[in-house]
Amino acid sequence: MLAVAFSAVLYVLLISHSLAELGGGILRQRQSPRCVASSFINVVSLPGVTVAVEKAASIAERGSYSESGNQGFPNTIDLLPALCAVTVKVTNTSDFPDKPVSSYRVGLFLPTMTNWNSRILTVGGASFAGGINWPGMSEGTHYGFATISTDNGHNSAGSDLSWATSARLYDWGYRALHGSVVVGKLLVAHYYSNSPTYSYYAGCSTGGRQGLRETQYDANSFDGALIGAPAWDTMHLMPWISKIASQQLNTTANGRLRATQLSILATEVLRQCDAQDGVKDNIISQPDQCRFDISKIICSDPSRCLTRAQADTTSKILADYIIKDRDGQNRTVYNGFTLSSEDQWSVYFGTDAALTDFDFSYERYFLYNLSQSYTWQQYSDQVVLNSERINPGLATANRFSTLSSYQKRGGKIIMYHGLADGLISPRTSLAYYNATISSLQTSVPKIRDWFRHFEVPGMQHCYFSNRFNAPWDFGAPGQASQLRMLPALGTGLQAFGDGWSVPGHLGDAKYDVLSALVKWVEEGREVESVVATAFTEDLSGKVYRTRPVCAYPERAVWDGKGDVNVAGSWRCV
Ligand SMILES: *[C@@H]1O[C@H](CO)[C@@H](O)[C@H](O)[C@H]1NC(C)=O
Ligand SMILES: *[C@@H]1O[C@H](CO)[C@@H](O)[C@H](O)[C@H]1NC(C)=O
Ligand SMILES: *[C@@H]1O[C@H](CO)[C@@H](O)[C@H](O)[C@H]1NC(C)=O
Ligand SMILES: *[C@@H]1O[C@H](CO)[C@@H](O)[C@H](O)[C@H]1NC(C)=O
Ligand SMILES: *[C@@H]1O[C@H](CO)[C@@H](O)[C@H](O)[C@H]1NC(C)=O
Repeated sequence: MLAVAFSAVLYVLLISHSLAELGGGILRQRQSPRCVASSFINVVSLPGVTVAVEKAASIAERGSYSESGNQGFPNTIDLLPALCAVTVKVTNTSDFPDKPVSSYRVGLFLPTMTNWNSRILTVGGASFAGGINWPGMSEGTHYGFATISTDNGHNSAGSDLSWATSARLYDWGYRALHGSVVVGKLLVAHYYSNSPTYSYYAGCSTGGRQGLRETQYDANSFDGALIGAPAWDTMHLMPWISKIASQQLNTTANGRLRATQLSILATEVLRQCDAQDGVKDNIISQPDQCRFDISKIICSDPSRCLTRAQADTTSKILADYIIKDRDGQNRTVYNGFTLSSEDQWSVYFGTDAALTDFDFSYERYFLYNLSQSYTWQQYSDQVVLNSERINPGLATANRFSTLSSYQKRGGKIIMYHGLADGLISPRTSLAYYNATISSLQTSVPKIRDWFRHFEVPGMQHCYFSNRFNAPWDFGAPGQASQLRMLPALGTGLQAFGDGWSVPGHLGDAKYDVLSALVKWVEEGREVESVVATAFTEDLSGKVYRTRPVCAYPERAVWDGKGDVNVAGSWRCV
């Protein structure tokens, strides 16, 4: 009965949609535009802005694409729909001499006219990477979006910060993304001889930061923004990384966590916390509610324990970073990691030898412009104050009050964060939500009208769930392309999925958060929950379990009788 009613609705929708298409067809030219460089020359005419076309290439249905030399996003992507791949280089002198000249590249994937859904999707970058995020853009093309992203003004791998000049910092901070939206909208409108109906954004991590920064900077850029695990608080995030890394490196204190200890810790956290959330399912659903007793794993046998000093390091990594301010008051600078994030900690401080990642590059290149090295012994809380004063590239997305313009023109935000994220603490997203609420003098129930936050138990940074195999795939930015890139990541696993959305539920708003955002923006259908999926570990395509992720402050609660691995046994409460 329900199914019949549903297909009747679907039928009506399809009919009215194709009638609208037909009407439009009579009025406007329908043939696919030409995918050649000259189609994009002299399209943008803005004061101080030059747009040089580098490339326009036709990609056939189920084709692949890669850009040689792209250090941030070197992987080849496959299964693309038929489209036109365009690269332009933008120079913008309008800020000069106040700020150095801006220069960045923009990539566009333009589906054929018949495949275009009349919308734009801008996609963010990752970490400190330079390079156009073609993999991220590829996901959006399957929905029919014309997708846009920028190289952020430089070309580098994600952990490389040595590119920083003043000009490039501003470009990475906000200018490249903003300009790409401006230029991208004009190129798209020209190419299809039609203005896009709606503009969306999707990004995770640095991509999340860029999206928040842009909604604060220009309320007109997007109608809906999908923001994952945002690295929004650059000026505090980076000193905090240095702080926990220097604690870890401090051999005087003898508290360094070796690979073995991290693994012992993660195992014990799961053992103690799993059932405390009410269901023993190998998922820690409320890490901040867990009463964790680390003394259970303190002993002198390094094969099964931590030393007291290592336990002390652990507590510091889990604690918020608090400094004494100028007036002697305690101030929280940055939120510590949550329990269940231990498996990713080694990304920031290595395990057995030296740092493996940023290695104090922030102090060296972004703050102090040093040609020589900067070592952990030089770190002190003073770095926090310098970071706040310098605010490199004006990258930090902390202009909360400006979001009222975005809200007033009807903009929507869906933010999400994995609770097992060991690169950016999920508490920092809650801090962003809280800060927005207090800046706009609103409340959690009211802000949910236009800004919702989803916590994803067991999900790591942006994607995957490792030891928990908690449902994590809900069509969020980067998830589908990561699955396609598994072989290139050296996992020994095969490429998986369709290159977009969630296998088995392509574009279905119940399972796919980007589709859910579109329905919220365009049809006013509020997003209460999205069903996330986990796959069996062999990635043979079998679903291991599903579970809804819920709009904060609600969380998924088991009905007490159904299969805990099936979404229908859970409700958002
Ligand atoms: C660092 O110094 C060099 C040389 O003076 C300059 O070109 C560059 O813009 C500076 N970087 C920053 C981040 O200010
Ligand atoms: C150029 O820079 C100005 C000033 O920052 C900015 O308002 C404008 O949007 C920029 N345009 C592009 C296309 O980068
Ligand atoms: C290293 O540990 C020692 C002993 O606890 C402490 O006195 C010192 O301040 C620490 N140094 C840093 C840079 O954290
Ligand atoms: C300030 O923070 C320190 C830890 O960093 C703590 O020991 C102390 O009790 C705090 N003081 C107040 C007044 O909260
Ligand atoms: C955010 O606010 C809630 C109360 O609304 C509070 O429980 C939570 O601790 C706050 N989190 C952060 C990180 O500020």
